[in-house]
Amino acid sequence: MDIEYLAKLASSASSRNLFSLFKDTERSDKYSLSAAGLHLDYAKQNITDSELKSLLFLANQENLSDKIIAQFSGIKLNNTEQRAVLHSVLRAPEPVKRNVLAEQSQELVDTEAKMARIVDDVQTGKVRSVTGEKFTDILAIGIGGSYYGVKVALSALVPFHLQGLKAHVLANVDGDAAQEKFNKLNPATTLVVVISKTFTTQETLLNATIVKDWMLKAARNISISASGIIGDDIISQHWYAVSTNIPAATGFGIKEENILPMWDWVGGRFSLWSAVGLPLALVIGNKHFSELKAGAYLMDQHFQQAPFEQNMPVIMAMLGIWNRNGLGYPSLAILPYNHALRALPGYLQQTDMESNGKSVTNDGEQLDHLTAPVVFGQEGTNGQHAFMQLMHQSADIIPTDFILSLAPTSKFLANHDALVANCFAQSEALMQGKTLVQAKAELFASGANEADVNRLASHKTMKGNTPSNTLLMKQLDPKSLGALLALYEHKIFVQGVIWGVNSYDQWGVELGKQLGKEVLDVMTNPLESIESTTLSSSSLSLIRYYKDRLTNV
Ligand code: F6P
Repeated sequence: MDIEYLAKLASSASSRNLFSLFKDTERSDKYSLSAAGLHLDYAKQNITDSELKSLLFLANQENLSDKIIAQFSGIKLNNTEQRAVLHSVLRAPEPVKRNVLAEQSQELVDTEAKMARIVDDVQTGKVRSVTGEKFTDILAIGIGGSYYGVKVALSALVPFHLQGLKAHVLANVDGDAAQEKFNKLNPATTLVVVISKTFTTQETLLNATIVKDWMLKAARNISISASGIIGDDIISQHWYAVSTNIPAATGFGIKEENILPMWDWVGGRFSLWSAVGLPLALVIGNKHFSELKAGAYLMDQHFQQAPFEQNMPVIMAMLGIWNRNGLGYPSLAILPYNHALRALPGYLQQTDMESNGKSVTNDGEQLDHLTAPVVFGQEGTNGQHAFMQLMHQSADIIPTDFILSLAPTSKFLANHDALVANCFAQSEALMQGKTLVQAKAELFASGANEADVNRLASHKTMKGNTPSNTLLMKQLDPKSLGALLALYEHKIFVQGVIWGVNSYDQWGVELGKQLGKEVLDVMTNPLESIESTTLSSSSLSLIRYYKDRLTNV
């Protein structure tokens, strides 16, 4: 069976009424499972037992079990960069680290110990700012995979933040983003962590440079009675980095002992579990950071051990493939019904689309099938008053993942009940829809006359038939967040295996970087001096507008 066959297999599902599947009264028990503290209800997916069986047959046919073993044991699955994919080892117990990484494990164990020490020293005040004060703020500078994980975990785990230490993340190269941070930060008590695997990323280096200038400028005005003017000390005392490129980080001015290493076997978008998590650990503490990793490890074990029909990442991945390649749905909505998870759609947009947004196989052959869906979303209930109109009434069907923690994180219980009710109601509404007959009956019942009923009824119909998963966790805490993020990591991996792509490279971002340099070159030199350019007349004309902006606006 190949992926193309899924479209044939799904032909009856395409015309089936999804809600009709609930004639099977056992359906919600059969189509749900629990793992690592998470509960997945996938009964609202448009799938039957035999179709699911075919999907799992496909997974077996693609040797998914062997690929899982290969990934966890460090085979170089990232074949275009000749790299192993071992982010999972970062959250495994030490004996597993020793076994998988052999002699490299010591560096990992030492790095973890060093990171834990930094966290303790900053939190207890053993390490202080140049003014002798305790640090009050952490500013993490990074982008892409060196940003999203930290961002999603920081906002998800606010109740676990320690008093007296605030974390901020800076990614966008727009100077306004940095200015926004400067407006609220005190350079004398801000600790900076530059996160860049390569330490060559344009945005991160530009931001790091302006933050450094801001801090140095401020330092000139800070005098302390004992040692006079602080000067460059502020950089060596306040700045940390996480990178594989230690020479570039030291060259930037960061003290070597303040640099934590990364390894090429950790992909940026899967790196939260490494020293990349330093800004998070500084704010939530070592215990909670360990719990985050422990939750992810629970999911890792489940993924490696559970039979496919009981395996949460495998089931979610195969349902995604069913929706994408069988039923032909082009997108996926991620709707967390938790304010604290508002950064999750952006995070998953990156991990999913940067991993599987590909159209050639591992061997470089053109694929005959489509891969990653367009991932988008927003926290509930905000999305209901925005794009969910389209989800209910446009002709496009948008499969959805609803995500919800059962325990409220605020004391406003009536709000929490309303939040939960809205979450459950939306999945029901997307599935059931409203027929013309129902719309008419409702209008008549509301007292409308026949003319109004005929005029309005079709506007009030909803297509229904939208499949969804609902993922529940008892409460949002470091452990459940770890399990949730690991669940999606593994789901993305499984889909990459079935689609036959390398989920761990990202060559697609390179052309933009390359042309970005060329455009900057044209922008910063007189146009007449440019001898040749690959840029179109459209872009050259835009550059001209930019150069003339002061006179022509
Ligand atoms: O977006 C491309 C990318 O290379 C990602 O893979 C990476 O997470 C991000 O840019 C940042 O890269 P770095 O950590 O090297 O600064």
